[in-house]
Amino acid sequence: MQGFFITFEGLDGSGKTTQIKRLAAWLQSRGRTVILTRNPGGTALGDRIRAIILDSRTEAATGDITPKAELALMFADRAQNIAEIIRPALAAGSVVLCDRYTDSSEAYQGGGRQLGSETILAAHRTICDDFQPNLTILLLPPLAASLARARRRNERHTQQHGTDENRFEREDEGFYARAYAAYRAIAVRDSHRVVLIEDDATIDAIHQKIVAIVAEKLNLPTD
Ligand code: TYD
Repeated sequence: MQGFFITFEGLDGSGKTTQIKRLAAWLQSRGRTVILTRNPGGTALGDRIRAIILDSRTEAATGDITPKAELALMFADRAQNIAEIIRPALAAGSVVLCDRYTDSSEAYQGGGRQLGSETILAAHRTICDDFQPNLTILLLPPLAASLARARRRNERHTQQHGTDENRFEREDEGFYARAYAAYRAIAVRDSHRVVLIEDDATIDAIHQKIVAIVAEKLNLPTD
């Protein structure tokens, strides 16, 4: 069987993680081997980078992380993930589902932090050998709905675990509006690989849509 690389993208609170798990279960039920991973994270190095980036409390210890330092950490994580997990899994014929990839850098660091798309694309060419997914599912419900969900989730997480993953969730709405616009621009530019799902429909309805797209690409039966 041929390996196939699918990335999931969207703003915080877009329901991405739920959809990835549902798709993984569906693919397994159709006999495919699935490897789940994420950016940042997924490797030992990536988990440490993730902790640095996401825990807003580390800013006290490290000082403000500059936009370019943040970008470099994202790409260090990604390079490791590609070498350690993604490429070997694809070579073994698995379907790799990755929660965020370079489009996140283009949306958040390129758009949100205003580094611009070309900086991110150049980094991707140099550090990741321009390694692209076969398919990207971009979940982009209306901005207000995503933000409300992200805030609720973050409050729950802090209450339950006492840890703080909200460095990005603390950003102002201008940051998210720029990230949102950058995502839309990627979908237009890279329409050969990006499927944009904009509705704020139920989890089931969106799952069905994703299944239809993936089934067609992988030549799998949907019933
Ligand atoms: P995560 O908890 O994975 O967010 P979510 O569950 O919403 O996907 O946190 C990843 C955060 O890091 C998220 O706010 C997006 C951000 N990020 C970047 O800014 N640049 C990147 O290249 C990546 C991969 C993530």
